[in-house]
Amino acid sequence: MEIKRVGVVGVGQMGAGIVEVCARAGYEVVAREVNESLLAAGLDRINASLDKAVARGRLTDEARRDIAARIHGTTALADLANVDLVIEAVPEQRALKVELFAALDAACAPQTLLATNTSSLSVTALAAATQRQHRVLGLHFFNPAPVMPLVEIVQTLMTSVETLSTARAFVASLGKTAVLSPDTPGFIVNRLLIPYLLDAVRLLQDGLATREDIDTAVKLGLNHPMGPLTLMDLIGLDTCLAIAESMYDEYREARFAPPPLLRRMVLAGRLGRKVGHGFYDYPDGSA
Ligand code: CAA
Repeated sequence: MEIKRVGVVGVGQMGAGIVEVCARAGYEVVAREVNESLLAAGLDRINASLDKAVARGRLTDEARRDIAARIHGTTALADLANVDLVIEAVPEQRALKVELFAALDAACAPQTLLATNTSSLSVTALAAATQRQHRVLGLHFFNPAPVMPLVEIVQTLMTSVETLSTARAFVASLGKTAVLSPDTPGFIVNRLLIPYLLDAVRLLQDGLATREDIDTAVKLGLNHPMGPLTLMDLIGLDTCLAIAESMYDEYREARFAPPPLLRRMVLAGRLGRKVGHGFYDYPDGSA
């Protein structure tokens, strides 16, 4: 099966990046949000990213216009009826995603592949909400999606060989590298990343090091592009908490348990760059 038209559901931080990546690769993209104001905010985010690429000399004005013309915003799920692949990127809430997959199953043509960008929720649970379990998979992008070269392809017990080979060809067409993971909590990357991020919060919470020293130690001692607290601000502390909770729920291992400081920061609304403050402050609102 060849993918020509892609639907993206949820045009927040990750969804907007995925829309941009697909449109840049030449796909027609239907971008769906639940209301006009969220849709406008998502499209603004994409346009700002394209403008930045033009300003940096990475994209011509003409290419920018062509990319923008391939993106069609909507609030109607029915507008996804004839896409070949849907990528779901709504918030990390199991009930919300299960309900959405049942609705997508009803709205989309029978041959449409349904993918989730979930970081840690069960892809199998989403497949089970549909009548097309062999056409459901995970396509897990990394933040910022236009820059990060990896996509985890997540396979459930029901995902067909044909679905996987279509997904591999699709990921390659985006110029990204795929790795294959079974539907196990956290897949490959978050299984490794989340305990490390939570340990950084514990170091800070227990007063063992300052936020600057934790981040500097990892940046300069391990040559990571950013330290763990800066990275959590980029991912979003609410997203980190949701991932940790769902991994702890499945594994019941202390290393996945969210430390109290993380929970309190989320309760306090310190969600990271997207709201202007997290472990650090971002006076311009985002970065
Ligand atoms: N959207 C689009 N492009 C962006 C961007 C964004 N949000 N942020 C940066 N870029 C682009 C810049 O425009 C620039 O492009 P050019 O080279 O073409 O000019 C390039 O990325 C480098 O950016 P900068 O020079 O501004 O900054 P940098 O060199 O410090 O890189 C970074 C920024 C790419 C974010 C880098 O710091 C990095 O790789 N950080 C780690 C990110 C990471 O680990 N992401 C994974 C998070 S885990 C996850 O997403 C999964 C999950 O389930 C939680």
